[in-house]
Amino acid sequence: MQIAIDGPAGSGKSTIAKLVATKLGFIYCDTGAMYRTATVMAARLGLDYGDEAAIMAHLKDLDITFKPSPAGQLVFMAGEDVTLAIRQEETTNNVSQVSALPAVRAEMVRRQRQIAADHDIVMDGRDIGTTVLPNAELKIFMVASVATRAQRRHKENVEKGIMTPVATLEQEIAARDQKDSTRAVSPLRKAPDAIEIDSSNMTIDEEVQTIIDLVNKKRSKAQN
Ligand code: CDP
Ligand code: CDP
Repeated sequence: MQIAIDGPAGSGKSTIAKLVATKLGFIYCDTGAMYRTATVMAARLGLDYGDEAAIMAHLKDLDITFKPSPAGQLVFMAGEDVTLAIRQEETTNNVSQVSALPAVRAEMVRRQRQIAADHDIVMDGRDIGTTVLPNAELKIFMVASVATRAQRRHKENVEKGIMTPVATLEQEIAARDQKDSTRAVSPLRKAPDAIEIDSSNMTIDEEVQTIIDLVNKKRSKAQN
């Protein structure tokens, strides 16, 4: 079974996707982490974030892997643990430029389909239901207001000692939404057969249960 979860930054995709995958015993694939890793690679090599040819020359053979750990899923770039590096602000603010490059997307979509080929999987991102797994049995499009998403990021940041004002976070989130939704290749878009969940006023548990209920419905329909 394939479950696709798409939506804008901070809508709760990865939190919910991880919990749903654990409950169902499925693997979880964080496609945003793959674009973030490509962005870290470009920065380390001093490449321009828009230089498709140079980025592709290095990305083609770059090993990006996920490994489960008691502290959560770790991300490795050529054997190096980049789990923390890919969440840094420099990466967050430039990943949309790298992810808009058509060749980068083609390479990532190829890898993501390979990961999904022989597993029950929950995959989250921006184009999973529309492009990566168009035949997924369940597609969720998760949304929440910009204000809610900025408040969530702020709370996460404060826990890490980062004091970026909420107003700045709102601007950054809105700018990334705009870039991700308007790019030419597989923009952030709700698939016609996706179910929209507005998480603004939902707890994490409520969201997880909503998705598990949808999975159970699909399963009992498939059996009849
Ligand atoms: O966790 P957050 O919502 O901040 O972002 P993410 O899921 O880690 O994704 C980071 C960025 O990667 C997004 O802003 C998109 O530019 C890009 N992305 C994408 O283009 N397609 C995907 N399937 C996943 C992420
Ligand atoms: O992956 P994405 O960027 O869509 O969002 P996330 O990183 O999973 O969630 C952003 C923050 O929202 C996390 O701190 C979650 O704990 C929180 N969240 C929440 O407070 N209530 C929800 N219903 C969903 C997520």
